[in-house]
Amino acid sequence: MLKGKKIVLGITGGIAAYKSAELTREFIKRGADVKVVMTTNAIRFITPLTLRTLSGNPVLTDMFSLTKESEIGHITLSDYADIIIIAPATANIIGKIACGLADDLLTTTVMAKRSPVLICPAMNTNMYANYIVKENISRLISRNYFFMEAGYGELACGAQGAGRFPPLDDIVEEVESILTNKDLAGERILITAGPTREPFDPVRYITNYSSGKMGYALAIMAKRRGADVTLISGPSSLMRPSGVKFLQVSSAEEMRGAVIDNVGNSTVIIKAAAVADFRPVVFSDDKIKKGLGPFDFHLVRNPDIISEIGRNKGDRILVGFAVETENLVENARRKMIEKNMDFIVANDATLPGAGFQTDTNIVKILDREGGLEELPIMDKIEVADRILDKIKGSRSPQSSQRAQRN
Ligand code: C5P
Repeated sequence: MLKGKKIVLGITGGIAAYKSAELTREFIKRGADVKVVMTTNAIRFITPLTLRTLSGNPVLTDMFSLTKESEIGHITLSDYADIIIIAPATANIIGKIACGLADDLLTTTVMAKRSPVLICPAMNTNMYANYIVKENISRLISRNYFFMEAGYGELACGAQGAGRFPPLDDIVEEVESILTNKDLAGERILITAGPTREPFDPVRYITNYSSGKMGYALAIMAKRRGADVTLISGPSSLMRPSGVKFLQVSSAEEMRGAVIDNVGNSTVIIKAAAVADFRPVVFSDDKIKKGLGPFDFHLVRNPDIISEIGRNKGDRILVGFAVETENLVENARRKMIEKNMDFIVANDATLPGAGFQTDTNIVKILDREGGLEELPIMDKIEVADRILDKIKGSRSPQSSQRAQRN
């Protein structure tokens, strides 16, 4: 989603400056254009050549370099930026910006800013705890500057405490979020994700291949777009998305309980979980012995959560998924009608690049009016964005107002 975004990355003089090289790579990997500005102290910690090589752009260090200033001076940089990020930010740069000083290329660029500014502090723990630094941060936050909280742990100076450079993934996610239009603000979106596990003794269960990637992508994207998100997840190895309410469940019955508890407060429900359709009839408290003969295994149907929600959904928008291996569109349309969904996202699990485990998906989005949107192969985060576009598009002006009022 950072593809084509123009980032000015300001690096100041702290030991964490070396981490901004990795941060530059992350932005470039995501298709952003990065122009790096370094303070005089930053170039004592890491060379401009490293940042030039990684960003593919000249690194700016000097405000009075005539050739560079005419090509890309501070005003040009401020105009160019979709976002200015200062990482790492020392107590000194925070103090200078808070006091309105503009005595080098970075502070001057920030002074002339037209874009959001994200500041990622990294400093000694006593400096970070200093009231003057705290006051400066509060002052800038009140002026709509964005701040990452410094991480906690062992610092390069040997101290233990708050002041570490924030994790790279968190910085990238914060940038994505700042640059995303908050068009789903006011919506409360309940999302289920992942597989469920249906145990039959203390060490065994039945499950499916779902990784949770599609549901987690929906949660991340809905949060970026300003929705209030609750994610109910079956067992998954994925990182919990930041900024969403997260509820961990294991079996289908637990998932049902969590959905029922939270559905009343939601305006949209997206059921991306691959709920196990059956569970073993009995659960043995002791591990079942292998024995010699065949093993009879009896299963019973699990509650169909989405059908239950569909029966009493009111004017909530209900979205389900259909993973099929044959007659994709017909089967998906039938399920949508039977379960009273507003949309169904259908995918053929046999296609390469679609279905469980993969980072991409190939889906068709069907609606109750007979519409069918066929999407090409794309990253699950982009698929999530398109599903949310459908939800947004289906809101009449009246219902959008309702969502905002509640
Ligand atoms: O009928 P099928 O299981 O293919 O329907 C898939 C949709 O129904 C998905 O959205 C899934 O999350 C939901 N579902 C459910 N409870 C079940 C089984 C599926 O909510 N027990």
